[in-house]
Amino acid sequence: MRHILLLSAAAFALTACGGSGDSEPAATSTPAPATQSAPADDPAQADDPAQAATETPTETEDAIEAAADEAETDMSAALAALPAPYSEADLANGRRQFRRCSSCHTIAEGARNLVGPNLHGLFSRNAGEVEGFNYSAAVRESGIDWSPEHLDSWLQDPRGYIPGNRMSFVGLRDANDRRDVIAYLMIETAAE
Ligand code: HEC
Repeated sequence: MRHILLLSAAAFALTACGGSGDSEPAATSTPAPATQSAPADDPAQADDPAQAATETPTETEDAIEAAADEAETDMSAALAALPAPYSEADLANGRRQFRRCSSCHTIAEGARNLVGPNLHGLFSRNAGEVEGFNYSAAVRESGIDWSPEHLDSWLQDPRGYIPGNRMSFVGLRDANDRRDVIAYLMIETAAE
């Protein structure tokens, strides 16, 4: 083993020596593009606010990317912990589907009611319980406690599931879209 190491070290030394011989002028030529990425050799330029301005977003972008990576890891762990079939959901699609709700619903804790009530903590409460939101009697008196199954039926046919409610939304016809948005909500509305 030792022999081999010594031999290859010697072979390397030999090639290195050969390279610096008279037949290799290329070794002294300038390493062309590397100089472009080092503009800071001029101190005046380093203080240039424009320069600083271009550096800050890079750092911020790095931080955002790192946070996003971390969030993604958290999200996939949270997803795996959901009951079937929600553990199989496509969360990216769930987030996309939720855009159809977000004109009327917020999900963050304590966020305000819009046209529809805030959905934080949805799966641990009954229909019609968000304070300060003026529900229809139909929803308030529906007696539904929001489970994923009830939500699935609600989103499939809001008008048919609780007749007389005021949510003007046609529903999500595709079962996978419903599964995905429900999984997304199970994670995002979960009370801490
Ligand atoms: C055009 C506005 C609008 C859209 C879009 C909308 N909602 Fe609603 N949503 C409402 C309103 C208004 C209510 C209250 C209905 C009532 O009181 O009759 C409601 C009620 C609800 C409730 C019952 C909440 C509770 O506290 O009992 C849930 C759950 C819900 N919506 C989920 C969704 C989801 C998920 C989507 C998207 C797939 C969605 N909504 C899209 C307006 C909307």
